[in-house]
Parts: sequence; structure tokens; C-alpha cells
Amino acid sequence: MSRAYYVTTPIYYANADPHIGSAYTFCVADSLARWHRQAGLDTWLVTGTDEHGEKIAEAAAQRGLAPKLFADEISARFRATWDEVGLSVDRFVRTTEPDHVRNVKAILSKVHADGWIEKRDYEGLYCVGCERFLMERDLVNGLCADHERAPEPRSESSYFFRMSREFGWLRRILEERPDFIRPERYRNEALAMLRDESGLGDLSISRPKARLDWGIELPFDPDYVCYVWFDALISYLTGAGYPDDPKFAARWAGAEHVIGKDILKPHAIFWPIMLKAMGLDLPRHIHVHGYWTVEGKKMSKSLGNALSPLEVQTRYGFEPFRYVVLREMSFGLDADLREAAIVERINADLANNLGNLVSRTLNLVERFCDGRIPEPAPDWRALVDTEIGPEPSSVPQQMVEQMDRVEIHRAVASVFELTGALNRYFDQRAPWKAIKDPATAIHAHTTLYTCCAGLRAVAVLLRPFMPKTGEEILTRLGVAAATPPVLDVRDPALWDAPLAGSRVTKGTPLFPRLEAIKPE
Ligand code: MSP
Repeated sequence: MSRAYYVTTPIYYANADPHIGSAYTFCVADSLARWHRQAGLDTWLVTGTDEHGEKIAEAAAQRGLAPKLFADEISARFRATWDEVGLSVDRFVRTTEPDHVRNVKAILSKVHADGWIEKRDYEGLYCVGCERFLMERDLVNGLCADHERAPEPRSESSYFFRMSREFGWLRRILEERPDFIRPERYRNEALAMLRDESGLGDLSISRPKARLDWGIELPFDPDYVCYVWFDALISYLTGAGYPDDPKFAARWAGAEHVIGKDILKPHAIFWPIMLKAMGLDLPRHIHVHGYWTVEGKKMSKSLGNALSPLEVQTRYGFEPFRYVVLREMSFGLDADLREAAIVERINADLANNLGNLVSRTLNLVERFCDGRIPEPAPDWRALVDTEIGPEPSSVPQQMVEQMDRVEIHRAVASVFELTGALNRYFDQRAPWKAIKDPATAIHAHTTLYTCCAGLRAVAVLLRPFMPKTGEEILTRLGVAAATPPVLDVRDPALWDAPLAGSRVTKGTPLFPRLEAIKPE
């Protein structure tokens, strides 16, 4: 049995429609899943919707709907959107589903019985946006720094998850496993949270039903429902088939979380300690990405710049857009999305670099070789690394290392360095001249063969990030069916499997050039 690779997106709040920020997290998870599935790992991707808590109850009330009906609607839109734009899901968890509710209750009962939960009185300032009590330092001019709204003073009896007693343990884990939270800046942030314990404490995991009844009832006190984060994090277990699916243990041993930096604290602090309380191992990694702004501004509904993935699909095609966001955001850092930059990248990398290589190579094969990939000179393979810089055969291994470190922006860039190198090689060898003279035809055949072999490698390396494009290139090379579904990019066959004789189809341009945006 191959090792399992289990990747999660955060489950999205069912209070608003998906936008490109939410889609980015998914594009990363989907690319990781496809990359590892292609390498033969038993891969499982989970996403879903986070449907309990005040945020959802408030949004539902504004629409005059019962929370469940409201969540049904939004959750269905998330599902349909991911389907529509080609992001694939193995299990979509809704936190209102019976198996998830059962898991949350069973876990609450167990950790309660094991002494991890304690009832206390609590007074503080509560932010509904964050769904938590705030500390002084979370406030700016008396307002929640994230939501710019005034928190409400609240006093209530609450059940606390006794998290603080494990801060020392967690600190040691973060020190012993330097890549548990990546990139490193977020590990440092988590360590800083632990150092400054005044900002943390035990975690209130209950809400009195008198105030909020939209949640999972505490199994040991029917007057309370469970705090939404405690409920939501458990979706990662539900999604992996906890507790009875025969594949659960293997999946959990291969768990990788992808999250945005705004939800570092629940993932880096609450979740490891919750898992310890349950007697489960920690995930392998938590991968943290930065935040997108649009044309320099925070994305928000009121600014009208919270682009939906479906709008993006109509404007650019989702796949080109997906390439742009994966490429433009250095994983872990914030990035700004500008329309002009999107158009520029699509034109430069997709239309000119990749699209042009496909069309000019296949054009010559169609016109001068009866549409079949010609036989190269016997030494073609030896020439690859000497004539096409920078060392094309090493690109796959380089990408394996980049993907292991989740440097997605670097990995996608590597593919386009390869297409750039193949284009330069094509220019230098000028096959359009050599092919016309029988004395030099073999020179041109070698060039065309090498470009086709290079394009096959490009297609397989690109497939995890641009699945339809990768498939389309393989189809045009006439090798789709011959390419085994599992093809480890380190397999020498990526370059070496014979290609001569394959029937190609030039087709229409892969990526039409987009009009540059005219200044207003
Ligand atoms: N429901 C919680 C997660 C619970 S996980 C157990 C939540 N949901 S969310 O809908 O608000 O956010 C989901 C993801 O979208 C997060 O990873 C968040 O970082 C990401 N993004 C939302 N807006 C974003 C940007 N503007 N830019 C990048 N990612 C952003 O948090």
C-alpha cells in the first residue's frame, strides 16, 4: 500500500459566497493533492463548510431564514462553485451533518471524562466576528482590530478546555519539529504566542443556549452549545473518516493542513492541544499562506472587489487565473492582485511562452512530418542537457523539492523556465529552415522530437497546477492514453518513453492573447 497523503482546506464559513481569497486556499490544496496523487500516493482532499455559531446565525437572521436553511443554500453554492471551476473534492464536510455532530459529541464526552474541561465564570469582551473573547491587545481604539467593530462586554459561566497546561509541551513540539508550521515566520509567530501567555489562556468552548442555540449541544450539559472553533477543527477528523473508516489511521498519519494566516492561532495552538487531549497524533504540517488584496485594497463586499471564482472564470478562464495566483503569491507572504498584472502574466507565460511552443512545434510536425512525431538522431537524449539550459532533466527533481517545502510559486515557475528554455532551443536550431532540406532534415527532426518530449514533461509537471491544460497538451501530442495515470515525475520515462510516430493535433491556440486593460 502506498503512503497516504491527506490534505485539507479550512472549512469555509457559510455566511457569504466564495471569493478569490477562499478559492486561493483551495487552489493550493488541490494542486498539492494532484501532485501527490500523480506520484502514486493514496490521496484524499477534504473541504467543507463551517455552519454553526453566531456569525452564521446573525447572517441567517438578516436574511430572515432559519440558520440551517441559510447554511444549506450557501454550502450548496460553495460545492457548485468548486465543481464549476474544476477544484476536486473527495469529501465535503458540512458541520451540520450527522457523522460530524456525532464525532464532536463523542470527543467532547471523552475529553470531559478525562478531566480536560472545567466550568468557570468568565467576564470579558466578546467579538462576534472572531467568535471569541478578545484580549486588550486585540483592540485598536476599543474596536476589534480585525473586524473594526466594538466587542460586547459579556459575563457568563462557561466550560473551559484546559489548554494552558500544555503550552510547555507545545513549545517543545514546535522546537523539535521546525517544519511543523511552515513557512518559518508562522512557526515563529506561534512560538511568540506561546511565549506571551498573557494573550492565551484556557479556551472557552461553550456558549449558553439562552444566547445562542445554533450549535452542537454539549453532551454533558444541555444548556450549552459547543464553541464553533472546537466544532470546526474536528471536521478534519470527520473528513478523514474518523473514527471507523478503515483508512482513517493511514490518512491521519499523512495529514497536511493548508490555511490562511488569519487562522493561525486556532490551528497552531488550539488544535494540537485538542489532538493531544484526544490521544491522536499531530498532523504532519500546517502550511500557512498570506492574504490577498485587490488593487491595493482589502477584499470586501462593500468595496465590490470580492471577485467570485465564477466571475474570474468568465473573465480569464479559471485555469489561467489559478496559474496566476499560484505564481504571483510567494507562499506565506501577502500579495496584491492587479488586473493589469493578471493580463500580463497570462499573455507572457501562457499565450507567448507555453502556447507558442505548443503551436510552433506541432505546426511543423503537421506540415512536414505527416502529423507524426519524427525519429530523432540517436544522441538526442544526450543533447538535451547540453543544448537546453538550465538542465531540463533536473527540473522534475527540483520541483519535487520545491513541492516538499510547499514553495508552490517556485514550483510553477520552474515549469515555465523549462518552456522558456525549450523555446530558446527551438529558436537556435531553426527547424523551420533545416526541415526543408533532406540533407539537414534529421537536425530538424531531432529538434521537433526533443520539443515534443519536453512538452510531454511540461504537461505532466504542469498537470497538478493546470489540470486541463496538462491533459490538453498530452492529447495534442497524441500520448494521453499512453501516459500512465500515475507517473512519478522522477521516473526517467518522463523524458525517455518513446514518442516517435505519435500522431499530433495542432489545434487552436491554447491561450488566446488577452487585450491589455486600457487606462481609464
Ligand atoms: N471557518 C473558518 C475556518 C475553520 S477551519 C477548521 C474560516 N473560514 S473563512 O471562510 O473565513 O476562511 C477560509 C479561508 O479563506 C482561510 O484560509 C482564509 O485565510 C482564506 N481567505 C479568506 N480571505 C482571504 C484573502 N483575502 N486572502 C487569502 N486568503 C483568504 O476562517
